[in-house]
Amino acid sequence: MLNVVILAAGKGTRMQSDLPKVLHRIAGQSMLAHVINSARQLNPDNIVVVAGHGAEAVQQAFASEQSLHFVLQQPQLGTGHAVQQAVPKLLGGENPTDTTLILYGDVPLVQSQTMQRLIDARANGMAVLTEFLPDPTGYGRIVRNADGAIQRIVEHKDASAEEHQINEVNTGIIAAPTAQLKEWLARLDNNNAQKEYYLTDIIGFAVQDQITVGAAHPDYGWETLGVNSRLQQAELERLWQGEQARRLMEAGVTLADPARIDVRGSLQCGRDVFIDVGCVFEGQVELADGVHIGPNCVIKNAKLGAGTTVHAFSHIDQSQADRDVSIGPFARLRPGTVLGEQVHIGNFVEIKNSQFAAQAKASHLSYIGDAQVGQRVNIGAGVITCNYDGANKFKTVIGDDSFIGSDSQLVAPVTVGKNVTVAAGTTVRHDTADNGLVLSPKKQEQKTDWQRPQKNK
Ligand code: UD1
Ligand code: CA
Repeated sequence: MLNVVILAAGKGTRMQSDLPKVLHRIAGQSMLAHVINSARQLNPDNIVVVAGHGAEAVQQAFASEQSLHFVLQQPQLGTGHAVQQAVPKLLGGENPTDTTLILYGDVPLVQSQTMQRLIDARANGMAVLTEFLPDPTGYGRIVRNADGAIQRIVEHKDASAEEHQINEVNTGIIAAPTAQLKEWLARLDNNNAQKEYYLTDIIGFAVQDQITVGAAHPDYGWETLGVNSRLQQAELERLWQGEQARRLMEAGVTLADPARIDVRGSLQCGRDVFIDVGCVFEGQVELADGVHIGPNCVIKNAKLGAGTTVHAFSHIDQSQADRDVSIGPFARLRPGTVLGEQVHIGNFVEIKNSQFAAQAKASHLSYIGDAQVGQRVNIGAGVITCNYDGANKFKTVIGDDSFIGSDSQLVAPVTVGKNVTVAAGTTVRHDTADNGLVLSPKKQEQKTDWQRPQKNK
C-alpha cells in the first residue's frame, strides 16, 4: 500500500504573486501537476496534498483529478506539522511494506525513477533522498556515524560549526513505513531554532527505534531543485528545457539550437526529424519520420505525417496532417484541420474545422472554415468561405478536381460539384452541378472622360 503526501502549504512570499506558488508553471504545467503526474507513475493507492496558502485555488485547479485528497494545514508550523495533517488520510499501516512517500509541491521535477529508487532503498526501514552539494548552506545536513550509518538530520540553523562542514544534504524527500511514520509524527516537538515541527526529526526517532535509515540519490541535480522565486523558476525552466532537448537529440532529432526549443507537454518524434530555432511545442505533439519544422513555429496538440514540412512562422493547433504535406510560411491551422497526403497550404492561409483531401492546395491568403475540400482541388489566392451569418456556422463542400478562382467567396451552406472551374471573383451562393464554368459576371466598364481627384491646395 503506497501513500504519497505532497507538501504544498507554503506561502511562496518571494514569488510576489497572487497565485499560490505550486500553481506557477514549469514547461506549461503547474509545479504541483508535475509532482502529481510523476507520483502517479508509481501507481500509488492514495495521494494527499497538504494545502495551506491559497488552498481553495489549489484544490480547484485539480478538481477533476481522480483519487486525490486535500487536507488543510493552517497555520503552517513546519514540515512535520504539515505531514501530521495528512495522517487521517493515510491508508494501510498494518503491513510493514506499507509505505508513505513525502514529496514537495515546489520541487517539481523529481523523476518517478528516483522516487522508486528511494522506495526500494527503504527496504524494511526508511530512506532519505540525499545529495552532495559543494555549497550546502541552508540545507538540513545528513549526520552519519563512524560506520557511515545515518543518525539524524540537523537543520542548518541548528547545526554546529562542525556539522556545517557536512556536504551531504537532505533534499526533503523521504520514504517511510506508514505505521511508524504516524508514531514518529506524534512525538515531534518544536524545541529548535525555528520553533517549527521538523519532519527531519523523525530520522533520529527511527534510529532510536532501531529502524535502518537508508539513502538514495537523484540521477540529476535539477530533480531536487525547489522554486522560491521567479528567478529560480526561470532557471529550472531552462534546465528542464535543456533536458528535453537532450532527450530529443538522443532519440535522433536534429535541433538547430538545443537552447532555442520549448517543449510544454510531450513531443514524440520519428527518425530524422529536423526542428529549427524558436519553436514551441504544446500539449501532445507527434512528428513522424523526416518531418521538418522551420523556425518560429508554434505547434500544439498536433500529429504530422512522414515527410511533412512546416515552414517558418506557422501556428498549428489541434490539427493533423498526412504524409508529405507542406504548410506555411505564415500558415494558421486552427482546431479541426485535417490535411491529406501532399496537401499544400501556403502563406497567410487560415483553416478551421476543415478537411483537405490528398493533393488539394490553398497557396495564398485564404480563409477556409467548416469546409470539406476534395482531392486535387486548387483554391486560388484570396478565396474565402463565408461560413458564418452572424448567428450560425455552415458548411462548404468542394468536389474533387475543382478550381476555385482567386478572390471568390463561397457562401455557405454551399456545395461546388466535381471538376468545376469557378471564375475569379465569383460569389458562389448556390450549389453547382459537376463540370463546367461557374461565374457571376460583373460587367466591366471604362469612362474615358473621367478625371482623377486632385489634392486640395
Ligand atoms: C526543508 C528541510 C531541510 C531540507 C530542505 C530542502 C525540514 C525541517 N527541513 O527545509 O532539511 O534540506 O527542506 O529544501 O523539513 N511546508 C509546508 N508547511 C509548513 C512548512 C513547509 O507545507 O508548515 C512545505 C513548503 O511549502 C515547502 C516544503 O514544505 O514546499 C519545505 O519547506 P521549507 O520551509 O522550504 O523547508 P526548509 O526550511 O527549506
Ligand atoms: Ca523553513
